[in-house]
Amino acid sequence: MKDKIPCHIGIIMDGNGRWATSRGYARSRGHKEGAEALKKIIKHANELHLPYLSVFAFSTENFKRDAKEVNYLMNLFVRLFKSELDFLIEDQVKVVFSGRREPLPKKVLDAMDIITKKTKDNRGMVLNVCLNYGGKTEIVDMVKRIAMDVENKKITIDQIDISLVDHAMYQDLPPLDLVIRTSGEYRISNFMLYQASYAEFYFSPKYFPDFTPRDLDIAIEDYGKRNRRFGGIKK
Ligand code: IPE
Ligand code: IPE
Ligand code: MG
Repeated sequence: MKDKIPCHIGIIMDGNGRWATSRGYARSRGHKEGAEALKKIIKHANELHLPYLSVFAFSTENFKRDAKEVNYLMNLFVRLFKSELDFLIEDQVKVVFSGRREPLPKKVLDAMDIITKKTKDNRGMVLNVCLNYGGKTEIVDMVKRIAMDVENKKITIDQIDISLVDHAMYQDLPPLDLVIRTSGEYRISNFMLYQASYAEFYFSPKYFPDFTPRDLDIAIEDYGKRNRRFGGIKK
């Protein structure tokens, strides 16, 4: 790929359920296939030397789903983080998580801690997994963190600026350059609202299990043609 690689890509991995039901399978089968697609995307993004990849795995709102589906997803996360993503260790990918730990089950938190620990010294791509994540909740938690520092007199109100807010988010990440959403939906669904402030958006009609490394290349190619002005005027 000769195109300019963005610094930070976010993927809203949507459409697992429809992928499955359109084939007469249970929704869980779609989540399983979605996980397979994700592994290939991570590998490819790392090969492209993408510095940061954020993926939306489970939103704070996804707890509204049936307990059966939520449980299936929680067990899938445990399997992924405990062993199925072990290729990341060798591939030098560093895994971090964004989201609230409450009310995730202990088995999921333990598996998250395991993969975080196993990959913490890796020097390749940073993979930010948004799990039990909500963009509004992240902003609320950021406000609380800063308010606490003011209350404890660690900082004064005058010291609050964009750089301080950046560092009070769940993870220290650069802004998103490109947000990809699959499944033909045109919305952000509470994904990284703050980090997406100047992101380019790319919408794919494919359900996430059908989204391939080649589709990622196509999205990056499209991104390369965009004229990013950041409020200025491009000469
Ligand atoms: C995305 O696929 C995965 C999660 C939200 C966990 P969906 O499960 O939302 O699939 P659709 O949108 O119902 O097809
Ligand atoms: C967004 O997909 C969340 C994830 C991909 C994890 P949803 O399927 O939950 O979003 P809505 O409900 O269609 O907006
Ligand atoms: Mg969906």
